Amino acid sequence: MNMQAIKISGVSVKYRLPKQAIRSVKEYVVYRLKGGRYDYHEFWALKRVYIESARGKVIGIIGRNGAGKSTLLKVLAGVIKPIEGKVEINGRIAPLIELGAGFDPELTGRENTYLNGTILGCTNREMSQKMDQIVAFSELNEFIDAPLRTYSSGMVARLGFAIATDIDPDILIVDEILGVGDAGFQAKCAKRVEGFREKGVTILLVTHDLGQVGKMCDYVHWLEQGTVRAHGKPSEVVAQYRKFMAERA
Ligand SMILES: Nc1ncnc2c1ncn2[C@@H]1O[C@H](COP(=O)(O)OP(=O)(O)O)[C@@H](O)[C@H]1O
Ligand SMILES: [Mg+2]
Repeated sequence: MNMQAIKISGVSVKYRLPKQAIRSVKEYVVYRLKGGRYDYHEFWALKRVYIESARGKVIGIIGRNGAGKSTLLKVLAGVIKPIEGKVEINGRIAPLIELGAGFDPELTGRENTYLNGTILGCTNREMSQKMDQIVAFSELNEFIDAPLRTYSSGMVARLGFAIATDIDPDILIVDEILGVGDAGFQAKCAKRVEGFREKGVTILLVTHDLGQVGKMCDYVHWLEQGTVRAHGKPSEVVAQYRKFMAERA
């Protein structure tokens, strides 16, 4: 098979931002009754982005805050529909986007693990079999039975990573969370990601850790204001990006 694992062709995303800050339905009704118009400000978060990857590659996405990295991953995960362009995904995708996406704060870690597993296409039985491993990897121990709202962001990230990487995805997308947690946990994550690479899992990694990009990625795309500013070998793209950032500092 030489089908690409991921193919993003000419994808654009537009957000609409209200020009007035209206905080409630009541405020909205009053505003409209007074003859106010509800205007939007349109804004391109992604503009004709092309990215593709063969199976088993680790693709890095770098760029400043607000460049569109998370939006891109959400398009891949199917959370956001692009206004134009096409996204092709071949295989089971496990998205690790934003802390706690797909988690319910009122449920316990264990309940959230079942919930998340179901979203990712596993049966309850499969999740029961994986539970011990997931708890062990996440290092949550007895906290697995506490409500998620009592967790620190690091604990949520650890659980999210443990679940997403335990369900045997073909494609894993990771948004910044590898930066959460202590050095020991980060090393464990890096090792698991390395194991995935050997198994032919495709990985899309958003990170601000440029050292990690150099070590882990096969290819890098640099996003700037919603477009791909440069792409290629990690050492070259990271060097261009560093130069760009230094000129701005
Ligand atoms: N739901 C949304 N509605 C409106 N604007 C958004 C929304 N989500 C993100 N944005 C804006 O889109 C741009 C890209 O955001 P994002 O993809 O989160 O960037 P990054 O992950 O690279 O920091 C930013 O300017 C951000 O403020
Ligand atoms: Mg982001």
